[in-house]
Amino acid sequence: MPPLPQPAFWPASLHTDRLLLRPIERADVAVMSELWTDPEVRRYLGGPVAAEELPARERGCVGAVGAFSVLLRTEPVVIGSVLVESDSRRAGRAEVSYQLLPEHWGRGYGREAVTAAISWALDEVTPARPEVVAVTQEANARSRRLLESVGMTLADHFVEWGEPQVLYARKT
Ligand SMILES: CC(C)(COP(=O)(O)OP(=O)(O)OC[C@H]1O[C@@H](n2cnc3c(N)ncnc32)[C@H](O)[C@@H]1OP(=O)(O)O)[C@@H](O)C(=O)NCCC(=O)NCCS
Repeated sequence: MPPLPQPAFWPASLHTDRLLLRPIERADVAVMSELWTDPEVRRYLGGPVAAEELPARERGCVGAVGAFSVLLRTEPVVIGSVLVESDSRRAGRAEVSYQLLPEHWGRGYGREAVTAAISWALDEVTPARPEVVAVTQEANARSRRLLESVGMTLADHFVEWGEPQVLYARKT
């Protein structure tokens, strides 16, 4: 089957003071696997991804629409990833999700990357329907602080994957 046409907003690269967000490249796959299998990263994401699921994820992530590697601009090394889904199962709104390797937590990189991703989503991905959402486990205090710090507002509570979840939203 021929590949699906790329949407106009992709590929994209986003620059912040300290970070570069760009499409996932083949050389980044080892870090992506680390993110999927690290128990700390996966604590509120259903636990480490099963070994048998990894090959398909590794094949699918390279160049995937809306999937960014997050790099430090000074080094540059990959420290995590951010995903913007343009037509999520959350009533078709753009949805952002994010993960960083634990050694890079606590320096504000998460909020810097997510701020850039939200602006891009609002301006370029769904400009006709500018609303971005994010879902995180109710117990994921770090992630909730991050979302609140980037101007997202608590909009819903529900149970999914057997865990209480919270949905945050931002329109502008
Ligand atoms: C959620 C996650 C991305 C947060 O990453 P992070 O980089 O530590 O988050 P932040 O950007 O909010 O920074 C955290 C702290 O660094 C502090 N900080 C240090 N230097 C800073 C700077 N220069 N600028 C801004 N904040 C800075 C912040 O004040 C913040 O402290 P606080 O949480 O006490 O308010 C990370 O914990 C993670 O990858 N978790 C696992 C995956 C996950 O659960 N994802 C959520 C569901 S999609």
